[in-house]
Amino acid sequence: MPQKKNVSGPARQGEIYFKGAAGGTPVVPFDYHKLEAEAKEKMSAKAGGYIIGGAGSDDTIRENVDAFQKYRIHPRMLRDVSVRDTSTSLFGQTIPSPILTCPIGVLEMIDDEADKAVGRATAALGIPMIMSNQASYPMEEITADMGDSPRWFQLYWSKSNELVKSLVQRAEACGSSAIVVTLDTTMLGWRVQDLDLMHLPFLTGQGIAQYTSDPVFNSIVSQMDFGDTDMKVPDGLQVSPEVLKAVKTFIGVYSRPSITWEDLAFLRTVTDLPILLKGILHPEDGRLAVESGVDGIIVSNHGGRQVDGAIAAIDALPQVVQAVRSAGSSMPILMDSGIRSGAHVFQALTLGAQAVCIGRPYAYGLALAGQQGVEEVLKNMMAEFEFTMALSGCKNLAEITADCLAKQ
Ligand code: GLV
Repeated sequence: MPQKKNVSGPARQGEIYFKGAAGGTPVVPFDYHKLEAEAKEKMSAKAGGYIIGGAGSDDTIRENVDAFQKYRIHPRMLRDVSVRDTSTSLFGQTIPSPILTCPIGVLEMIDDEADKAVGRATAALGIPMIMSNQASYPMEEITADMGDSPRWFQLYWSKSNELVKSLVQRAEACGSSAIVVTLDTTMLGWRVQDLDLMHLPFLTGQGIAQYTSDPVFNSIVSQMDFGDTDMKVPDGLQVSPEVLKAVKTFIGVYSRPSITWEDLAFLRTVTDLPILLKGILHPEDGRLAVESGVDGIIVSNHGGRQVDGAIAAIDALPQVVQAVRSAGSSMPILMDSGIRSGAHVFQALTLGAQAVCIGRPYAYGLALAGQQGVEEVLKNMMAEFEFTMALSGCKNLAEITADCLAKQ
């Protein structure tokens, strides 16, 4: 059972400066640009291409971050912020800060312990982890060391509903408290950095552990007949024929581009867990999400990995919030894509998000210092959020409203 750590902003700040006074140095850089640069230096070119890169020219990645500049915080004074509470509640679970970790696939490219290290780091802080459908370890192994810390499961809707059911039911058995259906990756985006390296990690069997550990998937594999020509391992590809068969099966079944709003009803028949739709950007899709009866939304453009030139997630957020609330729903709306700092967390909350998910920053922490690196990045994010909240004149999340922003 992991020991939960208390992360108060001033305590974190004091710990850092005292460590520095005693000659210590940071485990991971505090500055995001340095964090990314050092992580990039440490990663292989292929890992960097996949994790740092995005769709096309990376324009959406840049826009996700740059767009925050429009939403200036307007701090208020003399408001007694001596006692602060950064906690919030999602689907009946109280969490210490409005922060979760995004699902990121194929973390084995940057750390041997991959998702298991992320699971332990999030559990140490009580931060919910959204386990990736493309994880490097089966969910049963990721959650083994997480005690009762919250975990959700990201689902890619497979061509096989039996496989969908199996993944969801395994996630339930592993203690997941929500299912996050990623809608925006019915096919992988046009990722120029990966294309330049001619590299897709799944082809060597990386990032498909949720599948190869699944009984339904394995029974699909055993029924597949690719024929001898297709099953010949190409020269230079370092995989066994068994892995090649699993990879080819994975490619065939991992997603269903024909999926529509009507299909969502099936998910309700296989789980009572809250269902969230991840990848909503258009207000009309927000309204349809309400109509479809799901329990929550994550406004996201997949960290800029899918559509080059897309709207920044932070710009889509207020439009989606408005559409969902006008449709009469109070469902939680989360946001990811572009959150690089505690200030960004605060800005997202002023625009109507209940919580945000962090992606690349924690992956960089993992690349640089494993589990400890993830913990450090998350602790810094939580601390900076608390400082931004307090120094803007808010004691708790209820006080973070649109009024905290400067009028345009
Ligand atoms: C999904 O797994 C991705 O590569 O973004």
